Amino acid sequence: MTEDTAEVVRRYHEATKHQPDRYAPSLGYLDWATQPFPFRRFEGAELHRLPFPRDEETPAIGCLYAGGCDLVPLEISSIARLFYFSLSISAWKQHRGSKWALRVNPSSGNLHPTEAYLLAGAVPGLSDAPALFHYAPDLHALERRADLEPTLQDDPPLIILTSIPWREAWKYGARAYRYCQHDAGHALAALRLSAALLGWSVRLLPEVSRRRLAALAGLDRQDGGHAGEVEVADMVLQLETRSSASPTVSPDLCTKRAVTFHGSANRLSRNHHPWPVIDEVEMAVTGAEISDPEKGLSRGKGVENPDFGASSMPRMAAGTLIRQRRSAVAMDGRTHMTRETLLAMLARTLPSWARSPWDALSWHPRVHLALFIHRVDDLPPGIYLLVRNPGDEALLRTAMRQDFAWRQPDATPDGLDLYLLAETDTRDLAQTVSCHQEIAADGTFGVGMLARFEPELKSHGAACYPQLFWETGAIGQVLYLEAEAAGLRATGIGCFFDDPMHEILGLRDRTFQSLYHFTVGKPVEDTRITTLPAYAEDKIRDKAVD
Ligand SMILES: Cc1cc2nc3c(=O)[nH]c(=O)nc-3n(C[C@H](O)[C@H](O)[C@H](O)COP(=O)(O)O)c2cc1C
Repeated sequence: MTEDTAEVVRRYHEATKHQPDRYAPSLGYLDWATQPFPFRRFEGAELHRLPFPRDEETPAIGCLYAGGCDLVPLEISSIARLFYFSLSISAWKQHRGSKWALRVNPSSGNLHPTEAYLLAGAVPGLSDAPALFHYAPDLHALERRADLEPTLQDDPPLIILTSIPWREAWKYGARAYRYCQHDAGHALAALRLSAALLGWSVRLLPEVSRRRLAALAGLDRQDGGHAGEVEVADMVLQLETRSSASPTVSPDLCTKRAVTFHGSANRLSRNHHPWPVIDEVEMAVTGAEISDPEKGLSRGKGVENPDFGASSMPRMAAGTLIRQRRSAVAMDGRTHMTRETLLAMLARTLPSWARSPWDALSWHPRVHLALFIHRVDDLPPGIYLLVRNPGDEALLRTAMRQDFAWRQPDATPDGLDLYLLAETDTRDLAQTVSCHQEIAADGTFGVGMLARFEPELKSHGAACYPQLFWETGAIGQVLYLEAEAAGLRATGIGCFFDDPMHEILGLRDRTFQSLYHFTVGKPVEDTRITTLPAYAEDKIRDKAVD
């Protein structure tokens, strides 16, 4: 009898928890000789350089979440904008002999396991016929990976996101599968928000299986000589580029196979260390059938108020905000933020059918925010909870410590289900539980993202496991941008002690699990590091401006 795939996920999740006296299995040192090359390239594939848009030409932040940006036609320049404001290089950094690229989307350890493929019919300026392209962020270019059957001509464009787990496993070992899924969630939200600037929308299609996606993206043909750096399919996103919604593409879209593949995947490392637990959980997720009878977001009471959470910089160009996003490496441990800014920021994380990036997801929200409030004016320091799906509140109340206060702070806007659970100094708690990282205590507030876990695994099987991480990644992407808009900065925290976090909240079983942490505050810059332009094109442009 084959093992229940949900059981494989439970085992993986438990085995990759960090404990104060035992971190999840990893090599324990960085093996520089096997460090993976950060950019996937397909040698021999035709390269299409994309034009460079200007940040200032993008619409104001206002329409990033609420919609209303003018609809831009599908052509090479709009595809260029889509990628430039989601997955491209945002800057190069240099210190002593080292130079490394940062991207618009964040990634655990800056290792960037996520790759993106565009599958589209004719796109003026790019291609006359249906084709599969790989996005190469180092060049801001598309590599023509395959020609597709002409029958695809009228289908809406798709983006397939994939991961190369080895990139993360090289540094983080067994826990890397989790980080790949966080990163995929960040990339999903980054793409959704970038599409919003074009007046487009995005729909995740959970019903298309990973095997089909792998075949469609040609992943099954590319690991040949490079076993150990396998690339796996995560998700497919349908782009709505017209004013009327197109029909959802058929789940068996892989029958429309490529006619010819071009190029061969570059090798990323000379050698690899195997992490069989990652292969095992990946196989369990891939093998599980997705049968979710409850597609669609529930309209919680928190999502109806359109005035909620006006941005603190509504007129700033969204492109500028998106491309200036960075992780703080340290925070000042002093700065306070206002209560209004915090509430507006939290409101942006509330799921809504009418707002990006949440309209791209096709499931009931399953993630809630446990907050460590350190320095927010007019809010006492303490542990708070933002319930993102009111349907889970009763379960949360039962699962958490029974002496929690569950008191709504005075004048909390209607529809924001924010509760003060316990007044306390949270700085040490947050730092200790975040693998002792000072940045978790030195911000204005910290977050632990609590996912409804065991009930989801029971109902939907292993396939829901990565989706839980994607939701946390999407929340993280919104927090990153909102922090920038407020003149602050954020940092994702993948390194945290899982069960000690659960103990703080009194969670005794796996009904809810903390999957991702975050910190927001005033950054302290490392002045030793030099910043260089993202692309040579930027250098030329800066010169022209001078
Ligand atoms: C899933 C995830 C987990 C992360 N975990 C940590 C962490 O535990 N500690 C930390 O200082 N930074 C963490 N980061 C921040 C990354 O190091 C950062 O995104 C990366 O270096 C790229 O820099 P950038 O965000 O400025 O582009 C994390 C980021 C992500 C997306």
